[in-house]
Amino acid sequence: MKILSGIQPSGQLHIGNYFGMMQPMINNMDRGELYAFIVNFHALTTVHDPKSIERDTLGAAADFLALGLDPDRCFFWVQSDVPEVTELTWILSTLTPMGLLERCHSYKDKIAKGIAPSHGLFSYPVLMAADILLYQANIVPVGKDQKQHVEVARDIAQKFNNTYGETFIIPEPEINHTVATVPGLDGQKMSKSYGNTIGIFLEEKALKKSVMSIVTDSKPVEEPKDPDTCNLYNIYKLFAPVDRLQEVHDLYVKGGAMYGKIKLELVDILWEYFRAAREKRKQLVSNPDHIRDILKKGADKARQKAIGTLDLVRERVGLLY
Ligand code: ADP
Ligand code: TRP
Repeated sequence: MKILSGIQPSGQLHIGNYFGMMQPMINNMDRGELYAFIVNFHALTTVHDPKSIERDTLGAAADFLALGLDPDRCFFWVQSDVPEVTELTWILSTLTPMGLLERCHSYKDKIAKGIAPSHGLFSYPVLMAADILLYQANIVPVGKDQKQHVEVARDIAQKFNNTYGETFIIPEPEINHTVATVPGLDGQKMSKSYGNTIGIFLEEKALKKSVMSIVTDSKPVEEPKDPDTCNLYNIYKLFAPVDRLQEVHDLYVKGGAMYGKIKLELVDILWEYFRAAREKRKQLVSNPDHIRDILKKGADKARQKAIGTLDLVRERVGLLY
């Protein structure tokens, strides 16, 4: 069983990334062969500042390692260090119907947010399909927003297999439905590209500022409220201990929930929740060469797998002569 997922170095990683992808990946280390990688080619579709891509690539690696990913028990690398993925992307793109990409919500959402509609942004799902198929992944743990992209990868794999003969495993998305979409500060999906995140490793002051800016309604304290539609509650419930969560739930339903107080409590809970990982991260970032070394070794291991698949693909499509 091969489990694979990637994350973009397009900003500081946040609690949506943590629940949607990082925690499921870290928990899956013993379930099969795990492939975790930082997708810097994908990040180029939205970020054109080289310094920030470099910083966020090392930053995302430090985050993963600090949160418990063990590079000796998985494949952990940076996408561009295995250049075979771009060749597979091209080959797959020659089989990808335009309509399949035109239907992708993520592309439409991004251009609606003002991101320039480049060819790379449009064909992003083909690169993602190449990521998945190159390593013959069975399972792809992602947040709900990425389900459609995994379905595109399945369609492309099926088309390839039908055209050229059985070659690719058909991957399955795996979504943790209890936290499928973590809401952002403004109630939309939390996303680096929407500027509405709570970073995993914020400094205490910045963490407080973020949490205090979670948008809530202006109902008076004593008025009963629906916890399920409250953005603050929906973030709070991801971290609060069960007993306390029940108490806060009752305050919402019966009246008496004070948003300011719940926010301050959430700051403390978050600070404690990531305390050990924060300490570990501090050590890791003090030695970036050690992180680079881990990533380069991971890329060497991953590349061996990639070359095996690509050799077969070249033969299948007629590039060996
Ligand atoms: P972002 O939208 O912040 O740029 P990415 O697109 O890099 O995040 O997503 C990386 C992983 O984190 C994906 O598996 C994605 O589904 C997951 N993810 C991102 N935001 C959320 C969220 N708000 N809730 C749940 N999962 C999320
Ligand atoms: N598109 C994914 C996202 O934005 C990141 C990604 C790239 C990915 N390649 C992947 C996720 C392969 C899973 C598998 O979140």
